[in-house]
Amino acid sequence: MSAIRPDPHASAVPPQPQALLEPQLMAAHFIVLGIVSGAAAEERVRAFLGSAAGLVRSVAQREPEQRLSLVVGIGSAAWDRLFGAPRPARLHEFKALRGARHHAPSTPGDVLLHIRARSERMCFELSMQIMRALGEAAVGVDEVHGFRYFDLRAMIGFVDGVENPVGPEAADAALVGDEDPGFAGGSYVIVQKYLHDMSAWNALTTEEQERAVGRTKHDNIELADDVMPTNSHVALNVIEDEAGAELAIVRGNLPFAVPSRGEYGTYFIGYARDPAVTEQMLANMFIGRPEGNYDRLLDFSRAVTGTLFFVPSQALLEALADGHPLAGG
Ligand code: HEM
Repeated sequence: MSAIRPDPHASAVPPQPQALLEPQLMAAHFIVLGIVSGAAAEERVRAFLGSAAGLVRSVAQREPEQRLSLVVGIGSAAWDRLFGAPRPARLHEFKALRGARHHAPSTPGDVLLHIRARSERMCFELSMQIMRALGEAAVGVDEVHGFRYFDLRAMIGFVDGVENPVGPEAADAALVGDEDPGFAGGSYVIVQKYLHDMSAWNALTTEEQERAVGRTKHDNIELADDVMPTNSHVALNVIEDEAGAELAIVRGNLPFAVPSRGEYGTYFIGYARDPAVTEQMLANMFIGRPEGNYDRLLDFSRAVTGTLFFVPSQALLEALADGHPLAGG
């Protein structure tokens, strides 16, 4: 294994992250790809990583006000195939969770594309250009087109993203820092596709729904401590470190739906400096805190995918196209 050599010319300016801290816009495509076997396919994927920023610029300039952006993530097995050592310190496969009632599966994925824009057509254009660039080197594993619903509400009718950190707090929650210097400016992202049982959810009273989420539906106010159920979504997702400081992730969830098939869902996407934070939230939701006291939302929401990726900084992503810049001789 080669060690990461400190770069004597490194500047104090942290590396520019990919566009993961962009605000939530009207549309997003969440695309998970597999890389086909063979050196030629791997070479083509690396070439794409080097050209991705240029592709985004080309499509974005057609309608700059649409704020098109792309985030590219690399799965754990794909990292070894494409680049080898050194690896981002905390990159691993998504760990499946099995609670007493609910299960979070771990599903495959080599490359994640998180495309956002103010309109669907911009997401479409970029994803089409990317798939053209990748050609037969990559195959689709899963693709979800999310849309922003009224008042930023999730599919279940509650405003989503309210407690997301912003500004420097978002950067601190989502970006790797000095703890892994070769990979600073990167992020760990977990994605999960959830399908909701909307008939069962809509059969609840508004008060029952509010107790499941932990906020009021109309006014979007957090329930007071004395009425907040311990198995509400909010209660189980407020977590702290040993010093009592709250731990956060940056979420970019969006609803999606295919009503004619009865499919109503939420695409969860959470960026974290340390994937253990998101994993702790998931353990609280699926296993429960304490064990058995699982997230009431899960009685109406089934996780059907679960994958973890590393999102290199913009500069590292581009450099990786020409071989691993951190690999020692
Ligand atoms: C079924 C899928 C999900 C839905 C519909 C959903 C919806 C919501 C809603 C409506 C809120 C309250 C408003 C807000 O602060 O954003 C919320 C909060 C939150 N959710 Fe989710 N969520 C889902 C899955 C997840 C997952 C899988 C995680 C973590 C792994 C997560 C982490 C959080 C966190 C950290 C908060 C903020 C808690 C706070 O500080 O108040 N959510 N979610």
